[in-house]
This record gives sequence, structure tokens and C-alpha cells, in this order.
Amino acid sequence: MNGYLRLGVNIDHVATIRNARGGGHPDPVRAARLAAQAGADGITAHLREDRRHISDDDMARLAAQIDLPLNFEMAATDEMLRIALRHRPHAACIVPEKREERTTEGGLDAVGGFATLKPFVASLGEAGIRVSLFVEPDPAQLDAAVALGAPVVELHTGAYCDAGPDERERQLARIVAAASHAEAVGLECHAGHGLTFDTVGPVAAILSIAELNIGHFLIGEAIFGGLESSIKRMRALMDQARAEALGERSA
Ligand code: PXP
Repeated sequence: MNGYLRLGVNIDHVATIRNARGGGHPDPVRAARLAAQAGADGITAHLREDRRHISDDDMARLAAQIDLPLNFEMAATDEMLRIALRHRPHAACIVPEKREERTTEGGLDAVGGFATLKPFVASLGEAGIRVSLFVEPDPAQLDAAVALGAPVVELHTGAYCDAGPDERERQLARIVAAASHAEAVGLECHAGHGLTFDTVGPVAAILSIAELNIGHFLIGEAIFGGLESSIKRMRALMDQARAEALGERSA
């Protein structure tokens, strides 16, 4: 671990705004280019089964035109597997998907869904795509990810971000414990969902986390100060929290 914390910028909600009117503006590929200039280390996009934001054409253009590593969030379906194998993104993060939910509300059940997930993890891995499983910060889920052969897990930070002040410490402790369990069992650990300027610091300070994926807040904040500024501020808050945590470790 070199201590650097990567930032994956999720550009789904640029497509949400575009789709409110149809047409091509604002273009998520343009946002991805700007994110690269502003300090993103990767671009994340979720092609949902109902195509409510990112479209098939967006995925094709992101794969062809963006130099940063592309992280394709996908449900474990045959259709999404075919699309992933066509575009060969750097990484694929398998997420649970329900049509009626507004966003990805919970983690994947890698324990209960083991047999279903197994061929997806295998096919993506054989194609050279780095597979990540989006799971709750629960050691049993991480052990199932290892048994499935996934090299990466992404911890769902939604419960931590949504918690009130009394509950937040408890939710953070779950993430801290899960991240160290991930390290102990040899998984690369990522985290994301619901992170904001106010909630990112304590998660960025967890040294066994290598990457954060952040979208909705950055795009919302861009309305007020611009996308470049919102990404740069997030990057700075992450770097500051990480530097402090590294300093404490070596003190
Ligand atoms: N990580 C995963 C696996 C997700 O599904 C999402 C939402 O698409 C995110 C990170 C980003 O969450 P948010 O948009 O709330 O920052």
C-alpha cells in the first residue's frame, strides 16, 4: 500500500440531467474529460437495466474516448456481461439492482447469491477485467468475495452517510472493521455511496481503503461552483485526511 487514495468520479447524474430533456447536453463524456483534468483517477458509470441515466452509446464513447481507467458498474445479468465483454473496461463493479429503487440502496448479497455470481466473476476475470463486488461492510460478505475469486470489494458507505450524529460513529466503525478485514484476507478495498464534503474525511483516513467512488454529490455541487471546483475540493479533502492519517501512523 503506497498510501495514495484514488478518486473515481461517477458521471451518471450528468446523464440524468441530459435525459430530463433528451438531446445531448450535458454530455457525460465531456464531464469525464473535465474530471480527468480536475484530478480524478478513474471514471465510474452505471449502465442500469432501465437506462435511466447512462446509455449504451455513453458506455461505448467512454470506453473509446477516455484515457482514465473506466469502472463499469453493472448488475449480474447476461446483457450487462455481454456489454462489459464488448467494451473491456479496466474494472467492473457488480451491484445489486432493483428497478423500483432510486439508487443502489444496499450491497450485493455475495453469500446468498454465491452460485449466481460465480460465473459472472469468472467471465469478467478471464477477460482481464478487474472485478469488484459492491457489498455492505460485513466480514461474511468479504469472505464470500474471496471465495468467489473477486480481487476487489467496494464497501457501501450509504448507511454511514445517512446516519444521524449518534449513529454515524457506529456505522464508521463497521467500515473501519470491514476495511481491515479486507486487507487481512487480501482484497483491495474501495468505498462509496452518498459521500459528501462533510462525510468523506473519516473514510479517506482509513488507510486500507485504496479508492473512493463519488458521484451524486459532486455533480450536484457542480451546479453551484462548477465541476472542476467540486472535484478539486473533494480531492483536497481526501488528500488532507489521508495525509493526517499517514502522519499519525508514522508518529
Ligand atoms: N459506488 C457504487 C457501487 C455505486 O453504485 C454508486 C452510485 O451509483 C456510487 C459508488 C456513487 O454513489 P454516489 O452517487 O452517491 O456518490
